[in-house]
Amino acid sequence: MSQHFTDPSPVYASPAREAADWWRHAVIYQVYPRSFADSDGDGTGDLQGVRQRLPYLRDLGVDAVWLSPFYASPQADGGYDVADYRAVDPMYGTLLDADAVIRDAHALGLRIIVDLVPNHSSDQHEWFKRAVAEGPGSPLRDRYHFRTGKGEHGELPPNDWESIFGGPAWTRLPDGEWYLHLFAPEQPDLNWEHPAVADEFRSILRFWLDMGVDGFRVDVAHGLVKAEGLPDLGGGDQLKLLGNAVMPFFDQDGVHEIYRSWRLVLDEYDGDRIFVAEAWTPTVERTALYVRPDELHQAFNFQYLSAPWEAAELRRLIDSSLDAMRPVGAPATWVLSNHDVTRHATRYANPPGLGTQIRTAGDRELGLRRARAATLLMLALPGSAYLYQGEELGLPDVTDLPDEVRQDPSFFRAQGQDGFRDGCRVPIPWTRTGPSYGFGDGGSWLPQPDAWGELSVEAQTGVPDSTLEMYRRALAVRRELPGLGAGTDVTWHDELPAGILRFDRPGFACTVNTTGTAVRIAAPGRMLLASGPVTVADGRLDLPADTTVWWAV
Ligand code: GLC
Repeated sequence: MSQHFTDPSPVYASPAREAADWWRHAVIYQVYPRSFADSDGDGTGDLQGVRQRLPYLRDLGVDAVWLSPFYASPQADGGYDVADYRAVDPMYGTLLDADAVIRDAHALGLRIIVDLVPNHSSDQHEWFKRAVAEGPGSPLRDRYHFRTGKGEHGELPPNDWESIFGGPAWTRLPDGEWYLHLFAPEQPDLNWEHPAVADEFRSILRFWLDMGVDGFRVDVAHGLVKAEGLPDLGGGDQLKLLGNAVMPFFDQDGVHEIYRSWRLVLDEYDGDRIFVAEAWTPTVERTALYVRPDELHQAFNFQYLSAPWEAAELRRLIDSSLDAMRPVGAPATWVLSNHDVTRHATRYANPPGLGTQIRTAGDRELGLRRARAATLLMLALPGSAYLYQGEELGLPDVTDLPDEVRQDPSFFRAQGQDGFRDGCRVPIPWTRTGPSYGFGDGGSWLPQPDAWGELSVEAQTGVPDSTLEMYRRALAVRRELPGLGAGTDVTWHDELPAGILRFDRPGFACTVNTTGTAVRIAAPGRMLLASGPVTVADGRLDLPADTTVWWAV
């Protein structure tokens, strides 16, 4: 028997999904609103655009949508510089539009998670503007980290910390004081020792919970508390978001008290609402501390995102992630792409070891083949999976954006580690042709490549071996097999050649070839889905290079 890609026959009956604990096995789709869908043709995505496309997300088969920030913001860092946490930026619409997105999503059975940015505000936030205007001695300055400088005339920064986006983490005001910003100068860090800051954020939580959101993605969750006295790093350590060094501004134990207080607020609300932490920590064990039973619910697995396409390393990370989460009772999470990293189709098109900011297109065919295989591997793991808009189309990163259109603040700052994030933020293609390929009726705030039309939703819909149909089928199987995302274990088979993985889940098996060569192995059962063309004959499977296959066993 020879099979090609997908088996269209229904696999299992489709039991109703349990609402309680939905997040333990949910597939959550990240929308970057600026680049998702533009309803008014101004070249920028907006909330009505999101609203119009919700049925697409329902049909894709995801459980929830995480919206990157759409709040009032000068957009110095793509909206992660919030000027008013309770207002929608006019470029995205109004609060009524946000309300409509939440209501429509719920009517379609989708949950909505919004972004919360507590580490820093915009420099255009009312608090910061007044703190600056009132000058040294203003009590409002205590809500941020204002300091006098070092040196005879205070001309040197208060300590040696560097901004993640490059350059010093301090900016001096004309009145002589300096303020701390771990990111861009337009993103002053809030002082979480100040009770007004803690009060304000509990109130912001309530505002959005009252609006009906199902949860929050917590931006820079590891950064809120700084070590006492803001000590120098010394030794010129390079600052890294995903660092294995312990930093005086990241992953301080004091953050956990904040999350315990937030959990109390969340638990006052009905429904099964959640927090997911963006917490870059040295180890998965440190990450697990954020998801203890009285803190947050999930944390992104950036160790997994950063893994090379290599069987032994993937297996090691899967095991260590499951092992780290088991004692705290939180689900493991899995993610391959987001708005801060080069899309995985392009990461895997390049040699390993280049990090998550890659500037070369690499071998596109190879990258897509591996990306599809990596996705099926991820979606077969127990826990919750995060998808980033456009990955279901197999989009590559746009690596050749001209410098003059780039907007990433890090690009403009010397040695910023995140300088190439615009390439994963190019508006996504919905139709084969048309202005901005169906993104909107007008243009697109970042130029789209000519090849975008052939990668569009329209071009891939109904094409059995398209990446979009592979995602749809995979998510349908996940729904049909509720055990797939549940649990905390996988059972590995050890007898396979190097570079080949096989693990079993209840009634299910997954085989993965991470090598560049085809292998012949025993077929474990009935093929459900494959990331590329495969042949099964006489109980044997020819598993091509860089291919994943799902089986009913
Ligand atoms: C997070 C966001 C990133 C942003 C940074 C500062 O890492 O994901 O986009 O630039 O925080 O808010």
